[in-house]
Amino acid sequence: MLSVGDPNTRGDPLTTAYASGKVILFGEHAVVYGRPAIAVPVTQVRACAEIQAAPSGQGLVIRALDLDLTHRLGAAIATDHPAYPLEATVRNTLNTLAIQAIPDLTLTVSSTVPMARGLGSGAALAAAIARALAQHFGKRLAPSEVSDLVYQTEIIHHGTPSGIDNTVIAYEQPVYFVRGQPIEVLDVGRRFWLAIGDTGIRGPTRIAVGDVRRSWQQDPTRYEALFDRIGAIASRARQALVEGDVGTLGPLMNENQELLEAIGVSSPELEALIHSALQAGAWGAKLCGAGRGGNMVALVDARRTKAVAAALRRAGAKGVIVSHVDRH
Ligand code: PMV
Repeated sequence: MLSVGDPNTRGDPLTTAYASGKVILFGEHAVVYGRPAIAVPVTQVRACAEIQAAPSGQGLVIRALDLDLTHRLGAAIATDHPAYPLEATVRNTLNTLAIQAIPDLTLTVSSTVPMARGLGSGAALAAAIARALAQHFGKRLAPSEVSDLVYQTEIIHHGTPSGIDNTVIAYEQPVYFVRGQPIEVLDVGRRFWLAIGDTGIRGPTRIAVGDVRRSWQQDPTRYEALFDRIGAIASRARQALVEGDVGTLGPLMNENQELLEAIGVSSPELEALIHSALQAGAWGAKLCGAGRGGNMVALVDARRTKAVAAALRRAGAKGVIVSHVDRH
């Protein structure tokens, strides 16, 4: 994951670190209310953080290539400024690494994880930054420390994150996650394939999570029952994943999707993509992440990945990622 010492144009050593994206296969939203959820890394997309030593007195300059922004650590910014989560990640990481004075560095970040689409773009960027800073200072951060740091950044992005995104991204393994409990890394029983289709619509997590909270406050009995059913699906899926039982997983994804529709986070665009994947032979499909927009994920036979990806594109997907989850 880490490489040190690549030469750059100035001849200074670079420290480079990466972090993958992720999808939630089961249990989003209900996980905020204490039910279990399952997420897996998506290694086809990743965030990258590069550190280069800078002349004395420069301070720490963050360059975010995709956002076209440059920010000097400590310069005044509002909390809704796009550089704010980056600044917070850097400060929290320096704190964890016990680096007292702000170092002279240029930190350049970029990412192929689509932003605000349920694939963990913010968490991946924060994990890459934490790893790069640790590496630069010759220190090691355990996955649990990376996870804690990313969680702090997720609070800025989302308000009340369950903790699943930072966990799966920091551990880079399939995880069975229950809020407040020790994480469980899942050893999947066989390789399985996913086709992930992007509606092209931003799905802001904070808004979807806030809307679900209001609905839950208005009708707690109904929502608690829906969350219970989603949680039960996630725990059945855990066993099916470990046993490599794709025949059970597909229908469980479809049931999970119906419940996500019932809690009000699906959309016609997501459902069009889900329908097209199922028509093309996927075993199961559902939205992934906060919903409303963002991505859907389908569980697909290895021999059907091309057909399902083509069907998703024909149905209007703005991007398709074919990924696989492996035994470790
Ligand atoms: O931020 P996203 O879209 O990857 O999904 C967040 C998952 C939720 O369950 C909706 C919220 C959470 O904090 O777990």
